[in-house]
Amino acid sequence: MDSRVTVINHPLIQHKLTIMRDINTGSKDFRELLEEISMLMCYEVTRSFQLEDVEIETPVCKTVAKTLTGKKVGIVPILRAGLGMVDGMLKLIPAAKVGHIGLYRDPETLKPVEYYCKLPSDINEREMIVTDPMLATGGSAADAIQLLKNKGAKNIKLMCLIAAPEGIKAVLEAHPDIEIYVAHVDEYLNDHGYIVPGLGDAGDRIFGTK
Ligand code: PRP
Ligand code: URA
Repeated sequence: MDSRVTVINHPLIQHKLTIMRDINTGSKDFRELLEEISMLMCYEVTRSFQLEDVEIETPVCKTVAKTLTGKKVGIVPILRAGLGMVDGMLKLIPAAKVGHIGLYRDPETLKPVEYYCKLPSDINEREMIVTDPMLATGGSAADAIQLLKNKGAKNIKLMCLIAAPEGIKAVLEAHPDIEIYVAHVDEYLNDHGYIVPGLGDAGDRIFGTK
């Protein structure tokens, strides 16, 4: 696997992902599991965050302890399905700002179509984490990352639940400077651009549509 791709194959994540894949799992459980997995993945995505020393006083004595350097974080879900990963991340990074990029995949061409974009003003100073459960052809993620770069973002990570090999390749070709975090790399894309075995349409399963 490419060194820019981290597969977070922790047993808790894999167990929860299996339940999400199951066709019999309803929206309530699907949403809760996605939030839990997002929290667990966030732990790994933030592993490279820098620490600095700070002087504090415990009830026992003065000491020097570690604190985050204060680098600011921005979370950017790709609407709709990316929204399902935000709350889990905010539980661990409550001070993060949240931007939104609206893209839908045209069912005929499979190309992403932009319909919304609202971002924090200072994304050039932030560590940006794009979230989307599904990385299929990679078109949506690559466009979202390009949009962030066009608006000044310099430091961008992509966090997905399931990726197709085709999607990983497309994103890394378009953006060689990006790190991708996934819970699982599946087998292939079918003729309709769905990830196999995948979990179906993530947006529909989160929001109970269709
Ligand atoms: C899904 C998914 C990704 C995209 C992945 O969104 O959440 O954004 O497809 O496909 P790609 O890698 O081939 O671009 P969809 O367009 O179905 O919109 P939704 O989240 O509103 O359901
Ligand atoms: N989008 C989804 O929600 N699922 C897929 O399998 C592919 C794209």
